[in-house]
Amino acid sequence: MRLEDFPILKNNIIYFDNGATTFKPQKVIDKINEYYKEYTSNAHRGDYDYSLKVDTEYENVRVKIKDFINAKQKEEIVFTSGTTHSLNQVIFGYCSKILKEGDEVLISKAEHASNVLPWMILSEKIGFNIKYIPLDSNYEINIEDVKKSITDKTKIISLAHVSNVIGDIRPIKEIGSICKERNILFIVDAAQSIGHLKIDVEDMNIDFLAASAHKMLGPTGTGFLYGKMDYLKETDPLMYGGGMNSYFESDFTYELKNVPLKFEAGTQNIAGVLGMGAAIDYLKEIGLDKIHEYEYELKKYAVSKLKEVPNIIIYNEKSKSGCLTFNIDKVFSQDTAVFLNNYNICVRSGNHCAKILKDEIGATNTCRAIFYLYNTKEEIDKFVEVLKMQDKIYDNIV
Ligand code: ALA
Repeated sequence: MRLEDFPILKNNIIYFDNGATTFKPQKVIDKINEYYKEYTSNAHRGDYDYSLKVDTEYENVRVKIKDFINAKQKEEIVFTSGTTHSLNQVIFGYCSKILKEGDEVLISKAEHASNVLPWMILSEKIGFNIKYIPLDSNYEINIEDVKKSITDKTKIISLAHVSNVIGDIRPIKEIGSICKERNILFIVDAAQSIGHLKIDVEDMNIDFLAASAHKMLGPTGTGFLYGKMDYLKETDPLMYGGGMNSYFESDFTYELKNVPLKFEAGTQNIAGVLGMGAAIDYLKEIGLDKIHEYEYELKKYAVSKLKEVPNIIIYNEKSKSGCLTFNIDKVFSQDTAVFLNNYNICVRSGNHCAKILKDEIGATNTCRAIFYLYNTKEEIDKFVEVLKMQDKIYDNIV
């Protein structure tokens, strides 16, 4: 799909590590260059033409994100450095104020570190309990298990929309509607879904949504947090400094700016934000439905072709995204990844920052290929051919 838009593909690389980060189309690179070459200046600080141009472009990206996820107003979009920053902002800036000892927060064992560790740290301070929604036999979350996990003490449910190892698409809309009914705060980590699936925060009853630009064809070091306005107003910033205050005086009085600027202390990643806007334009041009359909087709194709390969263990055959998690039986996943790299094929190996999933899948380390719009069936054929040569895996190791 539009391979010619991605200049890095000229390097003849087969890149399946799209869960870690994605390649960037020329339009995103051009937008970043345009800012640096044509009108570099700070945002919300100057009174000259370059600065006013930046202010307009920067705030336009807020509008693009608002439209992309169907938020009610652009002020509900906070620019952050990415999903990890966004989740920490919500958990320490808002959840810390509403949780009490004995309350329950529901997550799952398939969550990324950024949706587990902040809860652990906060729970040490407050004394709430973190509970795991069970995973089913495919290591997926189903709605019945969510319902069964909720008690009168459940205050928050915080889940990835798409798990970064299993690639299952969680029933977000159904969970959102239960949360609304039961008055539970619903936080969604959209790192692995934002560039792949349509998200409608209103329709899905999502209270906070965290996402990164670099996993949706945009630049690294930028992303956003969506929050319902009433909650954002009650959220404390993580950082204080320039650009986020209205005044501060020598008698220690001060006032912070309104949402969202009170969360954006210091000079922001302006080039990154503009690049994120260009990535959204690009994704909209192609259409998320088409992208999802294409990458899921590639995953199904890979699963069927891998049946020809001996000793392959697939952990997530059933999940309906472009994510394929596998091992060669009795081979350390990193050795498989290094072997594939000898043929210019990039996969991720390890625990993928989801370190407690091993309790469920019985493997500490796996290889992961996540297919995206610029991957092809021919690349998968090559991948499968290389895996068929698995008896050569240790030939180059001295
Ligand atoms: N969170 C990214 C991944 O899953 C880095 O690979």
